[in-house]
Formats: sequence, structure tokens, C-alpha cells
Amino acid sequence: MFSSASSWLPQARLDPLHLDWLTTAGIEVAILRLDQIDPLISGNKWFKLTEHLKAADQAGAKGIISLGGAHSNHLHALAAAGKRFGFATVGLLRGHPQPTPTVNDLQAFGMQLHWLGYGGYRARNEAGFWEPWQARYPDLVAVPEGGGGMPGAKGCVQLKALACRQLNDLGWTDYDAWWLACGTGTTLAGLVMAEAGEHPVYGALAVPDDHGVAQQVERILAQAGVNHSSYELFDASRGGFAKVDSTLLEFIEQTEQASGTPLEPLYTGKALLALKQQVEAGKFTPGTRLIFIHTGGLQGRRGFSSET
Ligand SMILES: Cc1ncc(COP(=O)(O)O)c(C=O)c1O
Repeated sequence: MFSSASSWLPQARLDPLHLDWLTTAGIEVAILRLDQIDPLISGNKWFKLTEHLKAADQAGAKGIISLGGAHSNHLHALAAAGKRFGFATVGLLRGHPQPTPTVNDLQAFGMQLHWLGYGGYRARNEAGFWEPWQARYPDLVAVPEGGGGMPGAKGCVQLKALACRQLNDLGWTDYDAWWLACGTGTTLAGLVMAEAGEHPVYGALAVPDDHGVAQQVERILAQAGVNHSSYELFDASRGGFAKVDSTLLEFIEQTEQASGTPLEPLYTGKALLALKQQVEAGKFTPGTRLIFIHTGGLQGRRGFSSET
């Protein structure tokens, strides 16, 4: 059931990113286009799912049950993967039924949806939350929100090799650091595990400080037994998750026009703007080479303009 999923090894291009503020500072950036790995199963989500799918396969499960919001990139990728590879998917949604483009896709992909309201969704981290769902769907394996945790991070370890295979094409023999958006910190933790202290990983927080990203990263690294780690988190949330302002929207528009790279305002747009601020504040010396990960999320922006 999951075997065709585990044999799919997507490739992502590593392209030079030319922007005037990078040129002025003498910084080179290559962008790892995870948004392009597949028209439907896009971004870091696939990598965060692979180990969960392996575990489900080993457990003899028939599918996956997971949670997210009405614009969730995670549920979107999961539902698309279920349809593509033939396993069942169930989504537990935050709030009350609303027909966003994402929700319409989830239904079209065959995901069974349950709306938990807001209070019901807040209970997702309480002990016993999963019990009734596991009783109702005994053949499904539960995956935490966003595909997070240790299995999610383990699946992201391969991102380093994916990028490194292409350094030659850029004329690079090495790079200095990674830069990426963080929601739960799972993708960042996977890269820190892959690097084992060799190159630092910089995370631009799409959520406010009190979301416990640093603690989550530390938990995963401790579980993985990583002794040498080098990473730093920057507040990129601009006042809160999904808070959008005119500076951000103008930056995204200018960047898309100048580079042809599509961005969305929740993760990748905020992460690149936070990088610009750090570059302009002199965080990196001229000659620095960075890999910026495009973590996808473009499907989520379809419903966003009508929400804000
Ligand atoms: C588009 C996008 N980028 C980045 C992230 C952050 O990934 P992580 O939760 O692994 O930090 C997410 C999900 O949370 C996302 O949907």
C-alpha cells in the first residue's frame, strides 16, 4: 500500500537567486525549489511525511489520520499523496466547515474530513485526544500536526544530499549556511541532524516566540542524540502567524517580479524578508554562500487574500 510511495524520490532544483540587495551585500544565495517537486505534493511536506509513511507501512496500516487548518499545506500534501499512492486519509480540521480552495481539494482527493471546532482542536495535545479517533479508525496511523516530530525531521535529513548533489552546477564547492522558514522547527531539526555541526542552519520563525519552536527543535535533537549542532532562530513572524502587512506584500511582489520565484506570505515570503533584514544588518560577510529552502505552501495562498 505504501510501497509505491516509499520508492518515489523527488528531485528539486537548486537555482541561483539574483536580487539587488544580495548583489549589493556580496552574498550569494541558491534556492532549493521544493515547491517544484510535484504539482500537488509540494514543498517540505513530502519529506516530513516519508518516515511517517514507512512507520504506517510497518504497522500494517491502511492509511493516515492527521490534523490541520482550512488552508493546511500538510493536509493538502497528505491527501494528494493518499490519492496518488492509494492509501486512506482522514483529516481533523480546526474550526467549523468552510469551503476554502484547500478544503475543496482535500475532498476531491478523497480525504475524509471531521471539523473539530476551535475548542476541540485546542485539545489536540492533551493526553487521550487520539483515543476515540483510533477506536473509530483502527487501521489508520496518527501523524501529528504538520507532520512534525522525530519522524518528520528524519525525513528532512535527505534535503542536504538533495542540494549538495547540485553544488557543482552552481560552480560552488561548498556553502556556508542554510536559511529556511520554521513553523514547528521539524524541517530545521532534520537539517541540523544532517549537518551535525558542519554548516549552521538559520531558521526564520513564521510563528511568535511563545510557540515553543526552540524547545521542539531541542527535543528532536536530544532524541536523535545529536551532540554537535549549530542553528539560530530569528523572529520573522511580523506580529503573529499569518499576519500580513503592506511591507511584506510589496516585498513579495518585487521579489517575484525580479526573480520569477513565486512566494507566499506565511512562510517563504516572511523568511526571505527576514534574510534581507539580516543581510542589511551585516549578519553575513561578503562572499557568504547560503542555501535558501523554498518550502512550498503556494497552494495555501489561493484562499489567503479572501481571508485577510
Ligand atoms: C510552506 C511551509 N513552509 C515552512 C513550514 C515550516 O515547516 P516546519 O513545521 O517543519 O518548521 C511549513 C509548515 O509548517 C509550511 O507549510
